[in-house]
Amino acid sequence: MTDTAPKLRSRAWFDNPDNVDMTALYLERYLNYGLSLEELRSGKPIIGIAQTGSDLSPCNRHHLVLAERIREGIREAGGIAIEFPVHPIQETGKRPTAGLDRNLAYLGLVELLYGYPIDGVVLTTGCDKTTPACLMAAATVNIPAIALSVGPMLNGWHRGERTGSGTIVWKARELLAAGEIDDEGFIRLVSSSAPSTGYCNTMGTATTMNSLAEALGMMLPGSAAIPAPYRDRQEAAYRTGRRIVEMVAEDLKPSDILTREAFLNAIVVNSAIGGSTNAPIHLAAIARHVGAELALDDWQTHGHKVPLLVNLQPAGEYLGEDYYRAGGVPAVVAQLMQQGLIHENAITANGKTIGENCRTATIEDEKVIRTFDQPLVEEAGFLVLRGNLFDAAIMKTSVIGPEFRARYLSNPNDPEAFEGPVVVFDGPEDYHHRIDDPATGITPDTLLVMRGAGPIGYPGAAEVVNMRAPAHLIREGVHALPCIGDGRQSGTSASPSILNASPEAAAMGGLALLQTGDKVRIDLKRGTADVLIPADELTERRRVLAEAGGFAYPASQTPWQAIQRAVVGQMNTGAILEGAEQFQRIAQT
Ligand code: FES
Ligand code: MG
Repeated sequence: MTDTAPKLRSRAWFDNPDNVDMTALYLERYLNYGLSLEELRSGKPIIGIAQTGSDLSPCNRHHLVLAERIREGIREAGGIAIEFPVHPIQETGKRPTAGLDRNLAYLGLVELLYGYPIDGVVLTTGCDKTTPACLMAAATVNIPAIALSVGPMLNGWHRGERTGSGTIVWKARELLAAGEIDDEGFIRLVSSSAPSTGYCNTMGTATTMNSLAEALGMMLPGSAAIPAPYRDRQEAAYRTGRRIVEMVAEDLKPSDILTREAFLNAIVVNSAIGGSTNAPIHLAAIARHVGAELALDDWQTHGHKVPLLVNLQPAGEYLGEDYYRAGGVPAVVAQLMQQGLIHENAITANGKTIGENCRTATIEDEKVIRTFDQPLVEEAGFLVLRGNLFDAAIMKTSVIGPEFRARYLSNPNDPEAFEGPVVVFDGPEDYHHRIDDPATGITPDTLLVMRGAGPIGYPGAAEVVNMRAPAHLIREGVHALPCIGDGRQSGTSASPSILNASPEAAAMGGLALLQTGDKVRIDLKRGTADVLIPADELTERRRVLAEAGGFAYPASQTPWQAIQRAVVGQMNTGAILEGAEQFQRIAQT
């Protein structure tokens, strides 16, 4: 290390003349792992590899292979690699929901990064929650950090057509319901969408969050979209390993990269890629942990008018391999830069600005990434709604289809508003039991409400707000009813639901007071969602419910469910562990 280089925090463990006692203790056990005394006392930075891959998390499992190339990069650039596990999160395998584990992985990673001799870290990201969990922890601890995406799976194929993760499930359900495939055919069709290692190949939450990690500047430019099995992915792992050693020497930290400008860039990119409705939750969480100003309304102000450029399922046709070949994130950013929509001076992990990184990027296939003047959809961002039902909820208006528009948004006197009686479901189990029962009384005018599905009610918040219409209505040609809820929605679904409602019913938000048969009015132009009953009746209902002990939800099944429920915040502010945001930049203290 030169004199100008920052003092390595690992020196406090391995080379501390003021405390020879402890230094000896720390040293002897790391020697036990096989490192030599010279290596540990050479002044080389210790670089953590935060490993999210495991047998339990197949989406990220390829990181076990990529870690070898990360190590080679670290070693070649003069660092020492120490790999350690991050609490695994598998979106599809975790019950009751993987949403519960984002904050748990965050907590664990904060402890590791803070409490051990780590000078910088490679965050191995991928499956939905793994990316925000890692970025949130890096934001809190604030040591030099760089993310490496595991990359999407190869494209799925069935009979000459692309089959995309998650999105194919919606189609397969319809084919099964129509009797066109049997159970075995259902499983075969769904499995065809997962032909290789990697994460969901659609524009689900994984592709969204990795694209946004790159747009935020926390990844090497051009690396988010590389499919997992491609050789380029191995090279990106190696270059990421090299780069983190330089970042430690430069003392380039998350707080330098994760600025308000970087978050506004990510919001604009999210609209252009057709990103998941989970993104506002995760970006709010990262911003709060790093101390950057970001409000839910920023999504509408900065993102709503931005068009959709990336033609990926579920909004479009293509999949992850096509996205990468067409130019990935830099090609999208370059289009947005030409419109003046990107804060070009935001610094990124490679030490250059996003403007420098993306200025010359080109679209290699305009079928997959459209130019700004030939977008797939205009105004592809989110609307923020509020009213007496909740303080904040979001809606992805770009996925409102022609059938939905004709049915609900065609009143010439009131073209952007609709109202109707609600049918209320208390959690996903209630919905599954009653949706197809004619006694539930759902008509084409009904608005479906899902409550008890938020961060407290269904711990972690379930992806259940996008509810299909009952079978008898589907047979009559009504495929989509308006849905409102305090849960989330899978990024692989293209339903125009009103979701992430905050506060949730379990926190006594307005949804808790709704009764089946109440009329609700949605006005997209004014951004309102209200139940049409007098305020004093709402007050009375609230009093009665509070007296009865509040909104009922299922008991916790594990200690963590109970702990998280006691401290978790609402989705409009990131659903973080409230209070954790006070601990910022802790590696410096
Ligand atoms: Fe892991 Fe989709 S289930 S990325
Ligand atoms: Mg998901």
